[in-house]
Formats: sequence, C-alpha cells, structure tokens
Amino acid sequence: MLEVCNLRYSYPDGHEALRGVSLTLHEGEKLAVVGANGSGKSTLLLHIAGALEVQSGRITFRGCEGSDILRRNIGLTFQNADDEILMPSVIEDVAFSLIAGGMKLSQAHEHAGEILASLGISHLAMRPPHRLSGGEKRLVTFAGLLASNPEILALDEPTAGLDPKARRRVINFLRESDKAVILATHDLDMAFDICGRAVILHDGAVYAEGALPEIFMDIETLEACGLEMPLAALNDMLTGALSLISP
Ligand SMILES: Nc1ncnc2c1ncn2[C@@H]1O[C@H](COP(=O)(O)OP(=O)(O)OP(=O)(O)O)[C@@H](O)[C@H]1O
Ligand SMILES: [Mg+2]
Repeated sequence: MLEVCNLRYSYPDGHEALRGVSLTLHEGEKLAVVGANGSGKSTLLLHIAGALEVQSGRITFRGCEGSDILRRNIGLTFQNADDEILMPSVIEDVAFSLIAGGMKLSQAHEHAGEILASLGISHLAMRPPHRLSGGEKRLVTFAGLLASNPEILALDEPTAGLDPKARRRVINFLRESDKAVILATHDLDMAFDICGRAVILHDGAVYAEGALPEIFMDIETLEACGLEMPLAALNDMLTGALSLISP
C-alpha cells in the first residue's frame, strides 16, 4: 500500500535526520515506528503525509509517487496539536474537512458530533479549540483526522498527554478500525496493543524491524536504541518462562 525506499533527508541547517529509511505498509496493516528522541520518527511521518518534499529516495502510495498523492490519501496528526487547529469551535474544526468535501453543513455537524461522541469528548463541541488543554487538543485533532477519512492514518504520538481513559479510548478505536495505521510513539505498550509489526529507528536509520511481540522482547536491540521493554512484552516473557518451569 505504502512503500518508502531509501529515504534520506537533511534539514535546511544541514542536519541529516533520515539516512536511508526503507519500509513497507501493507493494506490494512498497523505498523509502529519507535525510537529514541531525535531518531527521525516525526521527520519520517511528515514525508509520508506529503508535508516534506522528498530530497532523496522514493515514497509510493499504491504505486503512485508525489507529495500531492500522499497529502490526499494519508492523514497526519502532528506531534504538536497546536499546529493543526484552525476553526473557532471544536465542532466546526472537526466538520471542516467534511464541508470542504461537499457535505451539507447540518449533516457535517451531525457526523462531527458522532465522532466527538465516539472519543468521549462531546462536551468540548462548542469550546474554542485554542483554549483547550493539551490532551483535549490532541483528541480534537484526532477527531478531525477521523472526519477527513484518509486511506492511511499517520499518527505522531497520538496519546501523549492523554489521561488513562482517553488513552484507552484512542487505543480501542485504533484496534477496532480497519484502516491502515502508521504510529510513531514512545508508548511501546500502546504499540504492542495496536500494531502487528514495528520498525525501530536509530539515528535516522532503520535499526531493526519485525513482528510484535517478538521484536519488543529483543533486549539487546531495545537497549542499543535507547528503548525499554514494554510491560506487556515483559509479562509475555515471564509467563513463557514460568510455563517452562511448571508446565
Ligand atoms: N527543523 C529542524 N531543523 C533542524 N533539525 C531538525 C529539525 N527538526 C528536527 N530536527 C532534527 O532531526 C532529527 C530527527 O528529529 P525528529 O523530530 O524526526 O525525531 P523524533 O524521532 O520524532 O523525536 P521525538 O521522539 O523527540 O519526537 C533530530 O536530531 C532533530 O534534532
Ligand atoms: Mg517526534
């Protein structure tokens, strides 16, 4: 569905953020992109969503290249939710893409209201987005992304700053969704809950990739990349070890 091939990128100040990243996202797949601070996750997602021009390498969506194709088909929630809230009220913000897509105002507001309800944030509908808390803003941008209904959800730290219940609602939503998801996160437990496969970035390059849970049990790889084993993987390992001792 999405193919990233030997992607390299240097920021205008010369800093080389991506050093030959390749990955594949299959139809309907949920892929985690994990790595320490500065490993290149956000830079990679900005490319995948067509927000940064490819300098070197290729990105194709269903065989087609070009940032306009990527922008049309891949929806991104930015790591900083302030970057994307535009409208005077939450409901208008979430309905924006629906109206831009030709839906009638009343129908767009009704659908936007359903999305807010599914994320447990109906009470925010009439609030001005710029006055919301960090976690509330993050949920609103996620609602806006769902309204725009892209082929692939590219999510940069979607649960950062969320309280446990809101985090769980986002996780459940993504688990139940049949959309392809590319999820950049430090929350390895969430990645473990949602994704079938993970790519580990280190210093702008793919250090390892593989199926979950196995790749999150590879202590040497996790340590080399500045990561810690998520509790769920630790639990799986301990359960496996205990079953060997007392079958
Ligand atoms: N605008 C910029 N100009 C120069 N360098 C940048 C810029 N944005 C990011 N970088 C650098 O590029 C590298 C990759 O940054 P990126 O934001 O992609 O990392 P990340 O994996 O998303 O990190 P985090 O986990 O902190 O979100 C870092 O070394 C960062 O300092
Ligand atoms: Mg980032």
